[in-house]
Amino acid sequence: MAQEVRGVIAPGKNEPVRVETLVIPAPGPGEAVVQVQACGVCHTDLHYKQGGISDDYPFLLGHEAAGVVEEVGEGVTDVAPGDFVILNWRAVCGQCRACKRGRPWYCFDTHNAQQKMTLASTGQELEPALGIGAFAEKTLVAAGQCTKVDPSVSPAVAGLLGCGVMAGIGAAINTGQVGRGDTVAVIGCGGVGDAAIAGARLAGAARIIAVDIDDRKLTTAEKMGATHSVNSATVDPVEAIRELTGGFGADVVIEAVGRPETYKQAFYARDLAGTVVLVGVPTPEMKLELPLLDVFGRGGSLKSSWYGDCLPSRDFPMLVDLHQQGRLDLGAFVTETIALDEVEKAFERMHGGDVLRSVVVF
Ligand code: APR
Ligand code: ZN
Ligand code: ZN
Repeated sequence: MAQEVRGVIAPGKNEPVRVETLVIPAPGPGEAVVQVQACGVCHTDLHYKQGGISDDYPFLLGHEAAGVVEEVGEGVTDVAPGDFVILNWRAVCGQCRACKRGRPWYCFDTHNAQQKMTLASTGQELEPALGIGAFAEKTLVAAGQCTKVDPSVSPAVAGLLGCGVMAGIGAAINTGQVGRGDTVAVIGCGGVGDAAIAGARLAGAARIIAVDIDDRKLTTAEKMGATHSVNSATVDPVEAIRELTGGFGADVVIEAVGRPETYKQAFYARDLAGTVVLVGVPTPEMKLELPLLDVFGRGGSLKSSWYGDCLPSRDFPMLVDLHQQGRLDLGAFVTETIALDEVEKAFERMHGGDVLRSVVVF
């Protein structure tokens, strides 16, 4: 049966977000209705509000979420009502070349729920952020977007694995393949960079060098596991990283800013046979000029990391287990928990520098 719930809408470009009543249809074939328990506030939600992603307003915001499956549609067998799940952006097909080669994050045929949720007042269809829309008491998703995890974990912590924290940890452990004893440098220590630091620690890195232009971020990075820190507003980070590595550079350099100068620093801060992992997302007009002799002469590899190159069914339960065992402190990423009507305020606080994640809890 269709039902009404409250959710946070971005009504138009740069307009304040607000809580509205939504209508959620009963789940159709392959779909699930999830009762949301927690949803983190991510920069991408702000970009939806600002029109940086698309102009298909109104959006239903929120996409870093965990909750309990309430009802499933026809043909759904992988999850059942009562299951505690983390949501991922897109259900993968399992059949295409990318899926068959074990790289579902490049799947050619991903999908979200077929039906749309609507605004109760006007009947307008809502575009859910990243196909999720979880700043809402309940949301409609494709069942393949739900991954079951240990239900004893805090929902606020679990939800973070649905986006930024997974992107950072995955950049280190999946894309960068950080190994025991490696030296890792992380440029940009926001939520994503800090998660990369936590991932590098988990993988057994011997040295983890945090680079940022803000000392407060470096202090937090040290709590996440950085063994050295470099303020690149005052020191050349490439020189500093070389000095800390006997002149060689880091085995793995993770760029988590998304700017030409930091891409360049990452390129030059790696050991000749090292790996650069690009997680920071640049804008379309940004360009990088490099001497071809340097591109040719420096070996190693340059990789971009897409959603932490994660396999939700493998990585979400594993990281939840490690957190539950006390071996990965995902709780450190939750700066504050807030109510549904405080999302606008959380956007304002995002640029203050003190908040890693604000999480809406229900
Ligand atoms: N050099 C080093 N650090 C920088 C620089 C710079 N030139 N400019 C900004 N930073 C730091 C900021 O001080 C901040 O700590 O980069 C960090 C960015 O963090 P957030 O704004 O919190 O962003 P985050 O959510 O971590 O995402 C980082 O990864 O997935 C992508 O789209 C995401 O491009 C974004 C990046
Ligand atoms: Zn996100
Ligand atoms: Zn596929």
